Amino acid sequence: MEISTSLLSVKEEQSVHTFYRLETAHTDYFHIDVMDGKFVDDDTTEKMKIYSDNLKNITNIPLDVHLMVKDVKKYVDIFSPNEPKCITFHLEATKNKEEVFEIINYIKQYSKVGISIKPDTEVEKVYEFLPFVHSVLVMTVNPGKGGQNLIPETIDKIKKLREYIDSNDLDTEIEADGGINIENIKELKKAGVNIAVVGSSLINSKDYKYTINKLKED
Ligand code: DX5
Ligand code: ZN
Repeated sequence: MEISTSLLSVKEEQSVHTFYRLETAHTDYFHIDVMDGKFVDDDTTEKMKIYSDNLKNITNIPLDVHLMVKDVKKYVDIFSPNEPKCITFHLEATKNKEEVFEIINYIKQYSKVGISIKPDTEVEKVYEFLPFVHSVLVMTVNPGKGGQNLIPETIDKIKKLREYIDSNDLDTEIEADGGINIENIKELKKAGVNIAVVGSSLINSKDYKYTINKLKED
């Protein structure tokens, strides 16, 4: 299981120190939660842009950008200069299938592409896009803020998606995002998750190295 640390709950005044601690603790990715104030209520663009710019100067650990935005291309243009490893957009931010493919191809100019679905979006809605994306980001909380509890029904969605990917010989990765901690990550692993996004349960822990090792434990 790889860990992508969400920076949403990192305090700005301690951010550089926190980034170094996370690098030393071997997080696999830094998860950049971009919110535009339209797709979700908060606007984190400025804070996430500063964090992405700083991270590019501090570390080689890849950036995993999660766009919770309506105008996807606008935000791809803002964050692509930080050379992220993956840029993920929301299916719910698109009008139709043509637009989904247009955005997939737009992002592919810069990085791997992920598609994300909210808890109440059926998993079948992404099936037709799976051969064209690197990963599916299954939201295990409603997007918009950190520190929420994982919604248990989303685990069945992950199981269904894993079953579909495997039975169709696809190599699409499954990433889960929201409310993940040492207690529930084992169930997510069993359900077929490859990458877990972890925010507050890691950022608020005392010892990052210990917490990340526990999260990665088989
Ligand atoms: C929610 C974000 C998630 C979340 C992760 O909109 O996409 O990345 O903040 O943070 P925790 O682990 O605190 O739920
Ligand atoms: Zn996220």
